Amino acid sequence: MSTITTCPYKVLRDPDTVREVLHRPDDFSPANALLAVTPLSGQALRVLQKARFALPPVLASNPSPSHAAIRKVVAGFFTPAKVAAMEPRIRQLSRESAAAAARLLNSAGNVDLVQAVAAYPPAVIMLDMLGLPVRDLPQLQAWSLDSLELFWGWPDPARQLELAHTAADFYTWLRELVLEAVSAREPNLFKALADHGLSTPEICSLGYFLLIAGQETTTQLISTTLFRLAEGSRGISWDEASSSAKAREIVRHVLATESSVPTWRRVAAHDTELNGEHIPAGEEILVELTGNHGFPWAAGESAGEGTEHQGPTPYGLAFGSGIHRCLGAKLAELEAAVVVQETTEALKGVRLQDPNPEWLRLLSFQAPRTVSVAHP
Ligand code: HEM
Repeated sequence: MSTITTCPYKVLRDPDTVREVLHRPDDFSPANALLAVTPLSGQALRVLQKARFALPPVLASNPSPSHAAIRKVVAGFFTPAKVAAMEPRIRQLSRESAAAAARLLNSAGNVDLVQAVAAYPPAVIMLDMLGLPVRDLPQLQAWSLDSLELFWGWPDPARQLELAHTAADFYTWLRELVLEAVSAREPNLFKALADHGLSTPEICSLGYFLLIAGQETTTQLISTTLFRLAEGSRGISWDEASSSAKAREIVRHVLATESSVPTWRRVAAHDTELNGEHIPAGEEILVELTGNHGFPWAAGESAGEGTEHQGPTPYGLAFGSGIHRCLGAKLAELEAAVVVQETTEALKGVRLQDPNPEWLRLLSFQAPRTVSVAHP
């Protein structure tokens, strides 16, 4: 990891202030939402340019008025009715992966729940809902993790170059998928965006963000929830979580205390004021949405390991707020609750095998990399 000296962000923690920032998009623009935290080296940029990698602002980082209509197109694929209609499929997938995890546990003596139950259902459901082919899932998962590290992590130059190569591979795969989908007969998101007038690079930019955000964040939420349940540290036992009410409750607790997306970014679009304080144009802001495990500059200030020491953070900010609020919030919550319920049901009475796993800790993403459980 490279040395990090001073924090380039104004960090905001107070929930009311965070909400105000998110509700003033003309003053606090999302234009920096997808910028690399560690600036890309010339070498890394050349690798990306060769693949014609580009992330023009389309949705999450789009400060212009075109955002609203594009958001509407995407939202059409995740309406409350469409999400509710997916529940049986989510349950079936979760049940199948939980049963496979139970078999693995019996034959091998332990099982990593991140790979066995958290990794794939969210990706399958997302691709299904977008009308895209469900394929290359292990590759998609590996690419997603690499791209999160490239854009939200602190890779040293050698690692950054490695990540630029995999991001270029991901983008090349994505462009092929976009071209295929745009000319397909069946309705799908990329075709809908092309019909809306978006160019191929714009569709690729949206697809790059969505294919990562639409599944890896949910996988991470499931991983943290299963870890805390297995640890028995959050007041709801592993076995209790097999009831649907308790599964929902623990997922909401994790969303409020240590969500997979604990922070997000904004930038002051012009000189402005916040709580009577002058904010100069260009000031980059990091808003805390939920408790977090600390980013490098937060050492000694933030909660560090666990989040119990922080005051209650309202669960309502976990998916952002205002005109860019997460379009997958309902889906993510439903998926997490169903996977947690089915997993705890199929693997009754297991214990945490590794209480100190390695964690993914990036500026805006966090989760245990493994949740290994065994029989008592
Ligand atoms: C636990 C899982 C998830 C978390 C914690 C999460 C969190 C977030 C956050 C914090 C934002 C930025 C909100 C803002 O700027 O106010 C966001 C935006 C977004 N999320 Fe999620 N997300 C999750 C899952 C999903 C899923 C499953 C999808 C879709 C399948 C999705 C699609 C989106 C989209 C499209 C945006 C951009 C919306 C816009 O700019 O108008 N997310 N998400």
